[in-house]
Amino acid sequence: MIALACDHGGFELMQQVKAHLDENGFEYKDFGTFSEESCDYPEYAIAASQSIKNGECDLGILICGTGIGMAITANKVPGIRAATCTDTYSAQMSRQHNNANVLTLGARVTGLGLALMIVDRFLGTEFEGGRHARRVDMIIALESD
Ligand code: RB5
Repeated sequence: MIALACDHGGFELMQQVKAHLDENGFEYKDFGTFSEESCDYPEYAIAASQSIKNGECDLGILICGTGIGMAITANKVPGIRAATCTDTYSAQMSRQHNNANVLTLGARVTGLGLALMIVDRFLGTEFEGGRHARRVDMIIALESD
């Protein structure tokens, strides 16, 4: 299950991402926002991130104007490793090496075609483990300091 969240800046792109996920048979839970009315992105980032933390969802896609506010917020939630991606290589590596469980996109930065390719690459790549697991474990250890 994929957790989705956006703010007003990401709303339009999120509708396209949802249509793309539908076409490709992915299940998702949408945590809002549900219109282009101005809102506060942390509210939606927190709800989606908590659904990953509690195991209801496995991965997340969060969209705001830049992807940055969503990432800063999501990365404050224990267990979340959010990556803002503007290219497919970073999307792949964020999964393969960093075991990122949240992708954030900037709707005012990345065009529709590239954004959907980034989504595909993120969802289609597995964590490689091995030496990368040791490094990710070092990050996780910070959460219990
Ligand atoms: C909203 O104007 C904008 O600040 C927000 O979408 C996002 O880019 C924040 O990081």
